Order: sequence, then structure tokens, then C-alpha cells
Amino acid sequence: MEIRKPKGTNDILPEEVRKWHAIEKTAMELSDVYGYQEIRTPIFEHTELFVRGVGETTDIVGKEMYTFEDKGNRSITLRPEGTASVCRAFVENKLYGDNQVHKLYYMGPMFRYERPQKGRYKQFHQYGVELLGSNHPVTDAEIISFATELLKKMGLIDLELQINTVGCPVCKPVYRQVLIDFFSEYKEGLCPTCNERMEKNPLRILDCKNKECIEIAKEAPSMTEHVCEDCGPHYESVKGYLDAADVDYTENPRLVRGLDYYTNTAFEIIAKDFAAQGTVCGGGRYNGLVGSIGGKDVPGIGFAMGMERIILLLSEKNIFKDSKKILDYYIIALGELEEIPAFALLKKLRDHSYFAEIDYTGKNFKNKLKYADKSGAKSVIIIGENERKNKTVMIKNMETGQQEEIDLQLFINNLKEER
Ligand code: HAM
Repeated sequence: MEIRKPKGTNDILPEEVRKWHAIEKTAMELSDVYGYQEIRTPIFEHTELFVRGVGETTDIVGKEMYTFEDKGNRSITLRPEGTASVCRAFVENKLYGDNQVHKLYYMGPMFRYERPQKGRYKQFHQYGVELLGSNHPVTDAEIISFATELLKKMGLIDLELQINTVGCPVCKPVYRQVLIDFFSEYKEGLCPTCNERMEKNPLRILDCKNKECIEIAKEAPSMTEHVCEDCGPHYESVKGYLDAADVDYTENPRLVRGLDYYTNTAFEIIAKDFAAQGTVCGGGRYNGLVGSIGGKDVPGIGFAMGMERIILLLSEKNIFKDSKKILDYYIIALGELEEIPAFALLKKLRDHSYFAEIDYTGKNFKNKLKYADKSGAKSVIIIGENERKNKTVMIKNMETGQQEEIDLQLFINNLKEER
């Protein structure tokens, strides 16, 4: 029986990989401009990191982690996200020692046991950034404007940036109780999952997708009415900086995010015409996370973007230009004896960074020419018995159809050193 890939994973074929390279390049270039450096952390971590970091009551930790015991009986989890790992690496490598702001980015696969559908996979990729070491509201605005600018640079339009504040350890528990009191009145109307959430994480009721729950949640008190004297001004200040940088945003008091570590600013960027899986970027501040995994109390803020969703959107809008590389030369050796000089010439061309291929089909001349034509090469180099004996090559310009016999050494000497 044919073996197939696991559901919810993707083979990214060469044609598609080209698109990935394009957005990865944009992400890396803009990271440079904004002063973010790449960090690479393991694909798997001790399960405890995510339980403590992301939070036990979240869907991610409760239902979606790929967790297994390794041969040494340790509980290991394939990373479902990157923030907890970056914070762990930050603490473990004592990056906090110099009291500087640290600006890091990462790219790579994440794993969540979710029900696969368009834009939602079990293995997916994120580009994420984390800014550690500052609680200044200007860093919130920097992170948010970086995210919006990057998506714009990648070619995405029609996006909506939604922001909210989710409070801090002082005001979050107060708001939590306000929500429990409010939703207790509507127990019968809420879905079974939201009834469970009531005890564990009532904030999540605010972003339930169930129609009845949405209706009830519309009337719920909002966080902004319950923020403490630190969080309120912080949020106002973030908005001020966003206005100063001309970043458009919509305030969404129902935006709560699905990870427990968030404090203060939370935000999402949504593609308006991409129905269910429209959230291309999510992020926010997480001032308690570094402390919760054993480090000093270092504040942080960041975001992550779903690369598959970005590619899907760009492909749907036909934004990717045909970036296929065009062959400079296609070499044909007519007989067995010509294969050696042909291969030597191929090496010379590549040494000079020309994009060249040799005919591997081993068929007759007519066939070889057909393949040469199909290859889309700008020029075809033919080496037959005469050319071998005369130490020449026949060059055919595929655009004009013109052929010219040139001295082999002269041809090599004329290859530019740098292209
Ligand atoms: P998140 O909202 O869970 O946040 O994920 C960020 C983005 O990853 C989502 O907006 C979405 O584009 C993409 N994504 C998530 N799950 C899937 C999936 N199953 N299939 C395809 N794409 C998906 C985080 O992961 C936080 N670590 C972000 C962050 C960084 N917050 C602060 N710093």
C-alpha cells in the first residue's frame, strides 16, 4: 500500500518553495531594518515549558500538543508555538544579564493537533518576533507597526489590525470575576465548551465562534472598563504611538487571544476576505512569562505570523510573480566521446555562476533538441564530432534561432568573472 503523509501536514513542492523563499527573504530583510536577530531553538522541548508558559487551561496545552515520552521517560512536546521556547533560551543563556532590550526573530515549523482545514494544519510554520526587556508602550507600538509593515511588504492588502488590552495580574482577576458573574446569568444559552470555560478561563467565552455565545458576549462588560491604573494609561499610550506612526487599528474589546501568558496589549491582524482562518498574525505583551519559567521578571512582547496563511492569501490574489529561474545554457553532447568535453564545459559555466544544464536523456539528437527547447534555455551549446575535433562549440541562440561556431577556449575566456 502506498504510504501517504499524515493528515494536516503539507509537502511543499519546489514551485511552492519559491514562494516561501520570497516571503522569508522579505521577513529577514525587514527584521534587519528593525534590528531583530535570528534565534533558533529546538523543535521539541520539555512538556513542562508549555504547560507553565502557554497555560494549562488553553486549548493548545489541553488538547493540541504532540506530547510523548522519550526513551529516557521524559515528557517531550513538539513545540506548538515559539514564544515559550525563545523565553526559555533567553533565560537559559542568561541573555538578560546585560539589561539591554533583546530583539529576536525565528522561523520554523510548529505542531498543534487541530482539525485540519484550509489554512489550519497540524504542522504549520510561523515567522515570529519577540522583544524582551522593556515595558515601554513604544515597544508595543514598534512590534505592532513592524507586523503591519511586514505583511504590507509581503504584498498583503485588505488587512484589519485589531487591538485590545487584556490587563495584568492586578486587573485581570477582577475582570475575570466580572465575566463569571455576567455569564452565570446566561448558562443555558452558552455552548457546553463555554460552560466549561466559565470556571477555567471565562475570557475565552468572548471569542467563542458559536452564534448564541457571540450574541450573549456582545453584552458582556469589556476589559477596558476594568483596567487598573497602570494598564489603562499603558493602553492609551500605545494607541498614541500607533497614531503617531500612522498605523490604522480597530479596537476590539472581545479580542482575548488563545494563550494564557498575555498581559496588557493584545492584537491580531486579520485578512478581511479570508473567511474562517483569516488571522494571519497574532501577538501581544507577556510580562509574566519569563518569570514563570524560572527567569527574572523580564517584560516581553511579540507576534507570530502563519506562513501557510500568508502564502494562501498571496496565491489567491495572484501576487506571486513567476519567479522561475531561466536557464542560461543547455548543453548537448552528440556522441559518447563528446560527453567528457561537454561535462568539462558545464563545470566551467557553473564556476562562473551561469545557470547551465546538460542533456541527461541520452536519446537521439532530435529528442535532445526537443528537450533543449522545452528547458526554456536562452542558448543551447552543441558539441558534436566536428566541434570536439576542432575544439569548438556550436552555440544556438534560442530566441533568434541563429547558430554560431566559436572556439571553445575563446568562449571560456569570454565568460565574465562575475555575473
Ligand atoms: P497564535 O495566535 O497561536 O500565537 O499563532 C500565531 C499565528 O500562527 C496565527 O495567527 C496563525 O496565522 C498561525 N497559526 C496558528 N495555528 C495554526 C494552524 N494550526 N495552522 C496554520 N496556521 C496557524 C502564537 O503562537 C504566539 N506565540 C504569538 C506571539 C509571539 N505572541 C507573542 N509573541
